[in-house]
Amino acid sequence: MLKIKSISKSFYNPYGGENKLFNNLSLDIKKGDFVSIIGSNGTGKSTLLNIISGVLKESKGEVLLGNKKLTSLPEHKRTQIISRVFQNPSLGTCPTMTVRENLSLALNKNKLLNLKGCLRHKKETLEDLLKNISLDLNKYLDVKVKYLSGGQRQALSLVMATVSEPEVLLLDEHTAALDPKTSNEIMELTKDIVKKKEITTLMVTHNLRHALNYGNRLIMLHKGKIILDANRKEKKEITIENILKKFEYAV
Ligand SMILES: Nc1ncnc2c1ncn2[C@@H]1O[C@H](COP(=O)(O)OP(=O)(O)OP(=O)(O)O)[C@@H](O)[C@H]1O
Ligand SMILES: [Mg+2]
Repeated sequence: MLKIKSISKSFYNPYGGENKLFNNLSLDIKKGDFVSIIGSNGTGKSTLLNIISGVLKESKGEVLLGNKKLTSLPEHKRTQIISRVFQNPSLGTCPTMTVRENLSLALNKNKLLNLKGCLRHKKETLEDLLKNISLDLNKYLDVKVKYLSGGQRQALSLVMATVSEPEVLLLDEHTAALDPKTSNEIMELTKDIVKKKEITTLMVTHNLRHALNYGNRLIMLHKGKIILDANRKEKKEITIENILKKFEYAV
């Protein structure tokens, strides 16, 4: 469904020449896959998500979604089919607007409406969206997002990123800034949303327990190459110690 076809990407450093990150990288993600992506710092995980979302352009190769060539679509057009949640809880929401206003905007994504038009959503519709969402988010509908905790903001970011039912969800260390309990709650919420809406998901994480416990495929990147690609069954056999060794010995 999501096909990364032989992409190459280099960055030019004014002090040190060319940094060749990806060289003919290929990856085939099936519809409904929930893929955890791990790997050392600077190994290309965020760059891969940036290429898929159109923030960065590959130097060679192409990205396909079904039969659609994403390569020729600019970033703002890709947001209609690809949603993202970042590590920083402030990035997915508008802090000076209330939870209600943020949700209303997300519900009207891709529609040409002004804010007044956007806000014509029944209270029940919005409450319904937050029903059963962790961290009591439904009690905060009229609170400005800047007053929410990081965990509540990430819960809201996730709901907003998925309310328009994107074809692909990209999560870049979306629990990294949260305490262990909240980060587990956000992972459970992620699992529930992804399963219910059957969204093809790529999740970058440094939390090896999350990488192993969630999703049906585990990919490890190292210096722009895939050095591990485990399916659901293979993933069950992998332990955190196995992965730690891979981190230590990857060259
Ligand atoms: N726009 C850019 N210009 C120059 N170099 C870049 C750019 N984007 C990424 N890089 C370089 O590409 C490499 C990979 O970066 P990337 O952010 O993808 O790593 P990462 O695997 O996400 O790391 P981390 O786990 O620390 O988030 C790094 O060396 C980085 O400096
Ligand atoms: Mg990164």
